[in-house]
Amino acid sequence: MEEALINIKNTALSFILETDDPKNLEEIKLQFLGRGGKLTLAIKEITRLPQEKRREVGMLANEVKQTIENTISERLQKLTQKKHISLSKKLDVTNPGAKPPLGHLHLVTQAIEEITYIFEHIGFSRVRYPEIEWDYYAFTALNFPKDHPARDDWETFFIKEETNPKMGEILLTPHTSSGQVREMQKKQLPIKMLNIAKCYRRQSDVSHTPMFHQFEGLVMGKDISISHLKGTLDYFVKSYFGEKRQFRIRPYHFQFTEPSFEVDVTCGVCLGKGCKLCKAGWLEMGGAGMVHPNVLKFGGIDSKEFTGFAFGWGVERVLMMKEGIEIDDLRLLYSNKLEFLEQF
Ligand code: DAH
Repeated sequence: MEEALINIKNTALSFILETDDPKNLEEIKLQFLGRGGKLTLAIKEITRLPQEKRREVGMLANEVKQTIENTISERLQKLTQKKHISLSKKLDVTNPGAKPPLGHLHLVTQAIEEITYIFEHIGFSRVRYPEIEWDYYAFTALNFPKDHPARDDWETFFIKEETNPKMGEILLTPHTSSGQVREMQKKQLPIKMLNIAKCYRRQSDVSHTPMFHQFEGLVMGKDISISHLKGTLDYFVKSYFGEKRQFRIRPYHFQFTEPSFEVDVTCGVCLGKGCKLCKAGWLEMGGAGMVHPNVLKFGGIDSKEFTGFAFGWGVERVLMMKEGIEIDDLRLLYSNKLEFLEQF
């Protein structure tokens, strides 16, 4: 009798585990546990056994019944789950293929690459200097007086660290001009430096972000004059914005250049006629000038023998001045919003 029960169990289990169809499980259940089922009939036989055997065999029969029932419900669960997954993953080979999404460089990185390419073409070498900088290189060595407003907490991010008697405080560099004296101290003349880097200022609105990029040029050697600066400006403006765009220089004041200029470029929409966007036809690009003799002194260069020009412009700014690019809020550039970034 025990052997018969074990056989029933094994047969039932092998049927249950071999089927892939939930409907078969129902049939198997009837076949073994239904009214005329194999196990039901076997259980009826137990009453015929001698009294002392009935209890033991009865327990075994119960265990077999439990095992069959449990295995059926487990299998049923597994099959319905599996079916669900295989349906959703079903592959229709007649469907057209889906292209994997392709990323591209960030708009600002694209601009940096383009600017680098333009200047490398006329012999500039790309350099980078610390973003976390001494006050000395950002201000003192650039001829800024002690009480200049740029040194205010409201303009520049200062870092709470011990100050250095010569170098002063540590700060996040507010402009790439901090690379000028570092470059001069290398004592490798002539200089044709292009410093493109992140800069930081306490500002955040539609046209400013606390972190932004500048590109700084420094050219130094014998007989370097304003004509070289103007030639370089003309070359850059035509290469980056296109042949139709003009530039002009206006007298201005910077601590580290004398004379200093503000450089304007004709608006890309009206080409200088004046329109809603630019009003008078010109857009301001940034500063430039002839390196101040005091700055040369800080750089350890004899101002009687060498002269130089410098310029420093915002990458995001020149990008916005390019034709066909209109960004209402500059902060979008750093928001990581793919719907915005994918447009470029
Ligand atoms: N550093 C200046 C700024 O951030 C820009 C600048 C002006 C850079 C004149 C120069 C320069 O190299 O000659 O506003």
